[in-house]
This record gives sequence, structure tokens and C-alpha cells, in this order.
Amino acid sequence: MLCQLDPVEDPDLLVGSSTCDDAAVFRLNDDMAVVQTVDYFTPVVDDPYTFGSITAANALSDIYAMGAKPLLALNIIGFPTGVLPLEVLVAILKGGADKIKEAGALLAGGHTIEDKEPKYGLAVTGLVHPERIITNAGARVGDSLFLTKPLGIGIVTTAIKGDLADKLAYQEAVNLMVALNDRAARVMIESKASACTDVTGFGLLGHLYEMVAASGVGAKLWLSNIPVLEQARSLAAMGMIPAGAYRNLQYLDQMLKWENSIEEIDRLILADPQTSGGLLIAVPREQAALAVRLLSAAGLNGRKIGEIIESTLPQILIEKG
Ligand code: CO
Ligand code: CO
Ligand code: CO
Repeated sequence: MLCQLDPVEDPDLLVGSSTCDDAAVFRLNDDMAVVQTVDYFTPVVDDPYTFGSITAANALSDIYAMGAKPLLALNIIGFPTGVLPLEVLVAILKGGADKIKEAGALLAGGHTIEDKEPKYGLAVTGLVHPERIITNAGARVGDSLFLTKPLGIGIVTTAIKGDLADKLAYQEAVNLMVALNDRAARVMIESKASACTDVTGFGLLGHLYEMVAASGVGAKLWLSNIPVLEQARSLAAMGMIPAGAYRNLQYLDQMLKWENSIEEIDRLILADPQTSGGLLIAVPREQAALAVRLLSAAGLNGRKIGEIIESTLPQILIEKG
């Protein structure tokens, strides 16, 4: 999807754009590699502090998905001065700063430009041992798949914008979006994961597709094991489905093999674009029981949602489970 540019190659560029991974990784020496990522977007919620927190959690997520430790962050800001009060900008930045602090990283500066609509994001730098990088290209046949946050964030935020989500649905979605993927990343590292990516704009299916395509394998999912936000299905039934979910499904159409009885609405939920979604982790079969225990102990979804299968095409089979 975003990997259409000419590949940049260098022996020390351990992860570049060719595998559509979450972040770029550059080796500094035998013991240290720098992980670099950038993310920014327009407000997903009205409250500026919450928007800042969500954006920072989302930007940090790409660092965690690579098995790295966040070190430094820089703000990227677009703001309509004179249209919105400056307190709004301050609250956005405070939300971001507090989240970066929670992650144990340093917010070390940034840049603001005048913009018609507020935009906020961060460039984040992390560190990882070059031999302990976890990319989306390492999945192997037999690996178990885990997803650490429920799906449906895109559906609920669409309903929030349409004033159709109640307080509880709003709070659940916000709690998820502001939650760092740090604990999930720790479990991933401790269970010796073979591949990982965070689930964001391309939805579970889009990011799993990138993983299987980069790894040269296929995958099977069990719908009934996939965690979904409590009210997402009923809100989706009311039509609160972001356009991105339809686009994701359409883009992946040829690569998806659905069990016939799976309804359209469930297909859209699996393609729902997530903001600051969870980690999708592939764990070797012999480590799967450990991953289940560690995830549950960390208060995360410890159910296996599927597995990596042998396939010449990067296909995804979806069964009811
Ligand atoms: Co990512
Ligand atoms: Co990203
Ligand atoms: Co990755």
C-alpha cells in the first residue's frame, strides 16, 4: 500500500520500506540499532488533551511493535491560530507530553505550522538490539496469532462523531486508544515472537495481510475468538462504519477466503481502521501457551485468534471458529 516507492538499500538499513513494516531500523553498531517512525492525524475526539494522548500512544506503538524501547519524541503540529484558542493547542501538547513521559521517553521539541484544521503527531526514535528486532516479515507456518486490543475503534469513533455513541462506548474506546502497547510488547518479547505489527488504518485484515505477504505465508483466523468492543457490532448495524473499512475490504478482496455464513458486518469489523490499535503478534507454537499466560496476566486478550499456515499466496482464511 505505502510500499510503492523505489526501495532504498543500505547494509545497515535493517528494515526499510520494502516490507511495509511499522518503522525503519538502522544499525549503528553490533549492539545498537535506531528505530524511527512518524505518525500524525486530524482529531479523532473533541477533547484536545485526549486527542494528544491518543496520538502519542499511536505514534509510540510502531516503536513497541518492532520490539524497541522509545527514547525521544518530537512534535509535529498544524494549528489554526486565530480560529481556535491557544489553550486548545496547549491541551493537545500536554496530552502528548504526558503520554511520552508515561512511556519513559523524552519529548525533546517539535515544529508547528499554521493549518486550516488541527493536526498533531510525533516522530519517535527508539533503540533495539539489532538481533532482537521483531518485524512483520518473520511469521512462520504453525505460529499462533494474538491480538492485544479489541477491534471496533473506527466504528465507535465514527459513532462519536455522529453523536450516536453513549458515554460507555466512548469511554471504552478512549481507554483503548490512550493505552500504550508497552505491556503487549513486553509479552511479545518474553514469548519470543517471530513477527509483530500494530493494527492501525488497514484494520486487522490489512495488517495481517502485510505480515503474511512479507513473510511468504498465509493465515487462518477464527472469528469467534477475535475480541471486538462491546457496542461496535450494534453501532455498525446502525451504519456507523468508516469508509476506510469498505476500502480495506475491497483492496484485500482477492486474498480473503471467507466461510460462507460470515456476515458482511463481521467482515467490515475485521477491516475496521483502528486508531492506536493493539499489537498483532505471531508466536511460535511451542511458546503459545506461555504467551496466553503472559497476556492474561497483563490484563490483555490472551485468546489465540488464528494461526499462520502454509500458502504460496498471501491468503487469509476466515472461519467462524
Ligand atoms: Co504500525
Ligand atoms: Co504508524
Ligand atoms: Co514491525
